[in-house]
Amino acid sequence: MQDWTQLLAGRFIVFDGPDGSGKSTQLAKFTSFCGDHGVIPVEVREPGGTPIGEAIRGVLLDPRYEEMDLRCEMLLYMASRSQLMDERIRPALADGRFVLADRFISSTLAYQGTAGGLDPEEIMAVGRVATRGCEPDLVVIFDVDEATAAGRLPAELDRMELKGSEFHRRVRQGYLAQAERAPDRHLVVDATADPDSVFRALVAGLESHLSVPEG
Ligand code: TMP
Repeated sequence: MQDWTQLLAGRFIVFDGPDGSGKSTQLAKFTSFCGDHGVIPVEVREPGGTPIGEAIRGVLLDPRYEEMDLRCEMLLYMASRSQLMDERIRPALADGRFVLADRFISSTLAYQGTAGGLDPEEIMAVGRVATRGCEPDLVVIFDVDEATAAGRLPAELDRMELKGSEFHRRVRQGYLAQAERAPDRHLVVDATADPDSVFRALVAGLESHLSVPEG
């Protein structure tokens, strides 16, 4: 049996994916799995995760701000991220804790980059300012087709969910392209099936990715 305390200590793992990927359900299941295996993750979400970040989240997701400029949007996500890094992520990693993040720069690359049209180099340059170069060990991407994802959205959509099907098709492509470029740092989990099957695939994928020593 895997020693999850050893596999996860001091790691920084991101769960990411398009809206409606079922990521939140898998996060809840994985947190409870961690607890059963003696690991208490430091859970953070983006945008948000700190009082300042949650206030920024309110602005970012408010449908009344439809006119928000793409660079303003990207910088607000990064501002929330910068605060989260300093207040929560960096101290937790310094203590050897396992950090489990709901979204990270991978979201900015997919939403504001591939789907929105911003240059990924620009995003990464601002990202390095926000994170001071701290990168996740692994990004898990919950991949789902647009029709399935659309069927999982809540009745009341936020500003990002309202961007339409073509935008969300590009978001998905953006995630898959990131995984293709750096397969060692990404785990793509097919998230179309029922939550229990997706979770089994997630745990199997994590075991194989984390067991391999990083080069
Ligand atoms: P959530 O609903 O999963 O918490 O995510 C909030 C929304 O913000 C979701 O539509 C994805 C979007 N987002 C970006 O567009 N860029 C980012 O950098 C982040 C972190 C999220």
